Amino acid sequence: MGEAAKAVEEMLECLLPKPHGLHGRIHEAMRYATFAGGKRLRPFLVLHSAGLFAVNRQGALRAAAAIEVLHTYSLVHDDLPCMDDDDLRRGRPTAHKAFDEATAVLAGDALLTIAFEILAHEETHASAEVRCRLIARLAEAAGSNGMIGGQMIDMVAAESAFGADDVILLQRLKTGQLFEFACEAGPILGQAGERHRGRLRDYARDMGLVFQITDDLLDVTSTAEKTGKAVGKDKDHGKATLVSIYGVDGARREAATIADRAVAALDGYGPEADELRALPPFLLDRET
Ligand code: IPE
Ligand code: IPE
Ligand code: MG
Ligand code: MG
Ligand code: MG
Repeated sequence: MGEAAKAVEEMLECLLPKPHGLHGRIHEAMRYATFAGGKRLRPFLVLHSAGLFAVNRQGALRAAAAIEVLHTYSLVHDDLPCMDDDDLRRGRPTAHKAFDEATAVLAGDALLTIAFEILAHEETHASAEVRCRLIARLAEAAGSNGMIGGQMIDMVAAESAFGADDVILLQRLKTGQLFEFACEAGPILGQAGERHRGRLRDYARDMGLVFQITDDLLDVTSTAEKTGKAVGKDKDHGKATLVSIYGVDGARREAATIADRAVAALDGYGPEADELRALPPFLLDRET
């Protein structure tokens, strides 16, 4: 993961505008939120899904950068006072604390927009059709029936009685959808066909669940020092999570079952998919 992180950070450094002009503050805020030591997990998934299909490195790195800036936008907005109201992110003050709310809203908007600009550029892929497919898939994953839909359910969940199935749907949308894009980017760039996209989508859907369940577990079991963000807040905010329904041990067991299913989705591949196979069990024990 360290290797993927380094490569995508170099690409992000080239792609994000350097602060300039009367509006330089927006570039500073975009860079502040982006270059703060995230795990770069979604880029890792893009690079390794691309690795299954001999995709050109430059194109894979651009798609990895696009999903990472879009993810960063989702964090900047997720932390706003009108949403989760958090002061700490990636080990530093959140964007609205370091700058101000208006700048954080605008920086999020700009990070979302630049994701599509990055994908649209011909250096991402020589074929305009492939670029359109990437753009359409990312728009779907990030939109009102994707990540934003999940964030909406997350907000209304505080006033609702949610069962496990509702929580799973919430997590598939708010977290799983961006994972699905990350894993489908490889077969899309490699023009690999629906069978491959379907397999990797199944893998990503379960990976996203494992990831969000462990995020919810870390909120209960970890520290701000380790996670780089405040912990112990989900309960206070009335968040619907599998931890709130099944308890810590029950949620862990559920995550382990889903992690096995994620690995099994890759049965059609050989050793070239071993890094992807290693991820779900690794996530079960993650501390950050
Ligand atoms: C945090 O994502 C938001 C969730 C979907 C739980 P990450 O834990 O991947 O955040 P960074 O990118 O490493 O900061
Ligand atoms: C956020 O989920 C998922 C997003 C779409 C940003 P959380 O609200 O649980 O993420 P953290 O714990 O703040 O990183
Ligand atoms: Mg949230
Ligand atoms: Mg949050
Ligand atoms: Mg959380």
